[in-house]
Amino acid sequence: MTNKETLLSKIAKNDEVIGIIGLGYVGLPLAVNFAEAGVKTIGFEKSKEKADLINSGTNYIGDIRDAVLREVVVNKLTLEATTDFTRMKECDALLICVPTPLDKFRKPDMSYIESACIDIGKNMKSATFISLESTTYPTTTEDLMLPLIEEYSKQNPLANSQQPITNRQQPAANRQPPTANSFKHDKDFWLAYSPERVDPGNKDYHTRNTPKVMGAMTKNGMEIGEAIYNKAIDNIYKVSSPRVAEMVKILENTYRLVNISLINEMALLAGKMDINIWEVIEAAKTKPFGFQAFYPGPGIGGHCIPLDPFYLEHIAKKYDFDLSMINAAGHINMRMPHYMYIKMSRALNLDKKAVNGSNILFLGVAYKPNINDARESPALEIMDITAHKGGIVTYHDPYISNVKTNKARFFESVELTKETLASADCVVLTTNHKDFDVKFIKQHSKLIVDMRNMIEEGGANVMKL
Ligand SMILES: NC(=O)c1ccc[n+]([C@@H]2O[C@H](COP(=O)([O-])OP(=O)(O)OC[C@H]3O[C@@H](n4cnc5c(N)ncnc54)[C@H](O)[C@@H]3O)[C@@H](O)[C@H]2O)c1
Repeated sequence: MTNKETLLSKIAKNDEVIGIIGLGYVGLPLAVNFAEAGVKTIGFEKSKEKADLINSGTNYIGDIRDAVLREVVVNKLTLEATTDFTRMKECDALLICVPTPLDKFRKPDMSYIESACIDIGKNMKSATFISLESTTYPTTTEDLMLPLIEEYSKQNPLANSQQPITNRQQPAANRQPPTANSFKHDKDFWLAYSPERVDPGNKDYHTRNTPKVMGAMTKNGMEIGEAIYNKAIDNIYKVSSPRVAEMVKILENTYRLVNISLINEMALLAGKMDINIWEVIEAAKTKPFGFQAFYPGPGIGGHCIPLDPFYLEHIAKKYDFDLSMINAAGHINMRMPHYMYIKMSRALNLDKKAVNGSNILFLGVAYKPNINDARESPALEIMDITAHKGGIVTYHDPYISNVKTNKARFFESVELTKETLASADCVVLTTNHKDFDVKFIKQHSKLIVDMRNMIEEGGANVMKL
């Protein structure tokens, strides 16, 4: 049997082992889905603390039910986590879910993907399906990952046990010095890209029922990838190559970026013209075709939308291509926290107060409602600007007990009481968590700047975006 036939037959018998590299917001739900389907799943995690938590059945991701994690770890024994990456040789598939942030020059930081590829090359066995799930620029899978995995497989003892038999059969004196063998693509391993589409906090769509796009480098890879993902995902949509799949992910996120930027720009103009942008959107939504509503806010956050344009720009430069519209969208959004600061300082000014020395309470630091993720959250930047201008900053977020801002300021969530609201010169609504009792907040606050249209019925003490 060929490697491909052996692997497909293992999958058919449910005997395959899936390795998930990186157990964060994306990797852990994916791992749990495979484990729930009865597939033996090993999570490879750099953080020992996270690996230990999982092995003790303790959940740390909001979208996973604690009982489900416990069930697959403690009762079904289908999921375990490890920091021992040599165990990659036990796996038939390795799915990479590591971070893809920006470096300090706002360029793609590919070090996490590179490190995962090095570990894979050194430790995998022959006949392994490898898929990247992290968001990245088109061409990453073929141009960055493939050569890295092949190169580092030269240090893999399992690749080198594959020295040609003819050489091994020669008398010692006639043998060629051993050359470093590498695993070969489409024979020993198959590479694909299949972007994660998880939407944290979404109650309707989760890992299993969100259709998954996949592009493999070869027909064999596509067939194997489909058989593997089918265990954990209901609907796989195949595209012709990894670079198409990579572009799909960037298109989805850039589409959101551009539309959010558009509505933010409209909101700023509408504010100057005394037009209520929220009323405008509600009216536009009555058009049954050709319009999709996006909502303004203090800026974009999270791990994807603010970062993706920089990933696209990186590759566009190589093709001498200027992304003028996407760049403009990125710039509008980057300025939103500053505009929001100005909005807040104007509100205080109307109250005959300066930011300097005022108590300013921010409600919500998560980048979107009902989740515990503050990465790239615009609230953090507004808090930084406010503190820099002398404002006395506090925050409350029911999902996040402490945060470090971009400028390394550390804050702990305060309790949301009548007293904390009443003692603030200005209360800023930065995240529309469902837990916020809007009536209570309105009743006890002196001045409110509502950046999320949480308070439908305004009032003299409420300023909206
Ligand atoms: N969070 C989302 O909503 C979301 C949605 C879609 C796509 N994505 C993309 O998915 C990728 C992962 O995002 P995330 O939110 O899960 O990140 P995360 O930071 O929550 O999780 C990544 C995990 O990988 C671990 N890790 C880092 N390097 C590693 C390595 N070399 N080997 C093993 N483990 C390693 C980290 O310790 C961490 O636990 C990113 O590219 C992101 O853009 C995220």
